[in-house]
Amino acid sequence: MARLKLGVLISGRGSNLQALIDAAADPSYPAEIAIVISDRPEAAGLERAARAGIAHRAIPHPSREAFAAAAAAALRQSGAELVALAGYMRILDGDFVAAWRDRLVNIHPSLLPAFPGLHPQRQALAAGVRFSGCTVHFVRAEVDNGPIIAQAVVPVHPDDDEEVLSARILTVEHRLYPMTVRLFAEGRLRVAGTIVAIAGATPPENAMLNPAERLVSAGG
Ligand code: GAR
Repeated sequence: MARLKLGVLISGRGSNLQALIDAAADPSYPAEIAIVISDRPEAAGLERAARAGIAHRAIPHPSREAFAAAAAAALRQSGAELVALAGYMRILDGDFVAAWRDRLVNIHPSLLPAFPGLHPQRQALAAGVRFSGCTVHFVRAEVDNGPIIAQAVVPVHPDDDEEVLSARILTVEHRLYPMTVRLFAEGRLRVAGTIVAIAGATPPENAMLNPAERLVSAGG
């Protein structure tokens, strides 16, 4: 079977891109990366694409419209059928988002709709939440908004700083994004309004408590 062609948009480090590259290195994975596009020429993720022998381009961002037009042309040329934002740190042009509706996904390091926008890990720490995580969702015009496909949860520890929490979330991002792209590639996602139905996926049974139940002694 032909593999789904994936376009990936990045701005920086590209560790989520690397997770997708690693997943697609297995020929039985149902997607392959057709092109990597960065708005920043110095993005380390472009090196990762180069090392993996994947087509990659830096596209300048003089304006949202100009970037979107050039990116759309490059994506079309690559044959991309799904676009994954992997640490793409700018707001996309509205017409681009509309053109790729339900074929454009984003990963964000919080349990949306909590903590959209910049520094979500810092926001989570400031709010004192006991759990955070990451969300993969279909992209809509509003930033970090759109039908949720999948989420992963991590505990927040009392001594966490932004760096430690970000690293803990990142490890689950690297599992969640390839899994979500697989679900899309296998045609198992149906969007109805704000809700995504996933064919043949079983939700987990277990609740997780923080602090852990077994560590709370009677009376403290
Ligand atoms: C990731 O944590 C990703 O979730 C986040 O930027 C980081 C990129 O890391 N994206 C956003 O905050 C988008 N709103 P990476 O370049 O190593 O994949």
